[in-house]
Amino acid sequence: MKIATTIAEVRAQVAAWKKEGLTVGLVPTMGYLHEGHASLVDEAVRQCDRVVVSVFVNPTQFGPNEDLEDYPRDFDRDKALLEEHGCHLVFHPSVEEMYPEGAATYVEIHSDMPKQLCGKTRPIHFRGVCTVVSKLFNIVTPDKAFFGQKDAQQLAILRRMVRDLSYGIQLVGCPIVREADGLAKSSRNTYLNPQERQAALVLSQAVKLGQELVAQGERDAAKLVAAMSAHIAAQPLARIDYVEAVDGVTMEPVETLQGTVLVAMAVYIGKTRLIDNFIVEGL
Ligand code: PAJ
Repeated sequence: MKIATTIAEVRAQVAAWKKEGLTVGLVPTMGYLHEGHASLVDEAVRQCDRVVVSVFVNPTQFGPNEDLEDYPRDFDRDKALLEEHGCHLVFHPSVEEMYPEGAATYVEIHSDMPKQLCGKTRPIHFRGVCTVVSKLFNIVTPDKAFFGQKDAQQLAILRRMVRDLSYGIQLVGCPIVREADGLAKSSRNTYLNPQERQAALVLSQAVKLGQELVAQGERDAAKLVAAMSAHIAAQPLARIDYVEAVDGVTMEPVETLQGTVLVAMAVYIGKTRLIDNFIVEGL
């Protein structure tokens, strides 16, 4: 496994692979890797000849009062995990390498899509995500890129970006990886103290409850959301940011569950903001 810190090194390596006719997969991450990230790498290794994983805590997707400084980092551990999962090249650039002095060009979707769900409280977040992923696509020029359903709005937005900007890259969505007790794996779970870790189970419990209600025939979005919200609100350490049912492609709120619907939530457990979701298809 090679480690590259410059864009030039990545371009040279990818050019050599392409010359040999090898396909390239990209897994963008912000590091502090866990089994959720590893599942994307595994899928990339299955589908592509060579796999590039980027490890970069992207400053442009953090708001002024968010956890950029505190975001957990452990590159040595990340390297070991990536080596174990068969990654071929790790791209670990500095902020200056990705955003040279005076960088002022952004990729932004001008529709309501990035303003829904997480966009309501994180207004610049998806602009930062689109900008950095766009740069990674230009640097790595992968055949396929792998993203988790855990960040369902991010994946929907990136699908739109790829379509709108004609990136010839196939996006592969991968299922949410959970802890044994149901909590969706997240680098931010490390912020939780033992009491909060227990309280955080309300998210996956609400997902399960929602899935059961849909299986029982519930099609009224307001009723579904109310039942899930009530479960979360009963936990004193939890504070709901949102629980919503939206169209699976546009992220617009729906009243009735039909077609493909994303049921998503963001919940503060103490000071830590966690997300979870499920998708209902073929309604
Ligand atoms: P990060 O939060 O590090 O996540 C990197 C990728 O891992 C994302 O595609 C995310 O959806 C996926 N992932 C995280 N937890 C997961 C889980 N429990 N199960 C399955 N997949 C999971 O998302 C980002 O970084 C950034 O926004 C990024 C796309 C790298 C741009 O900076």
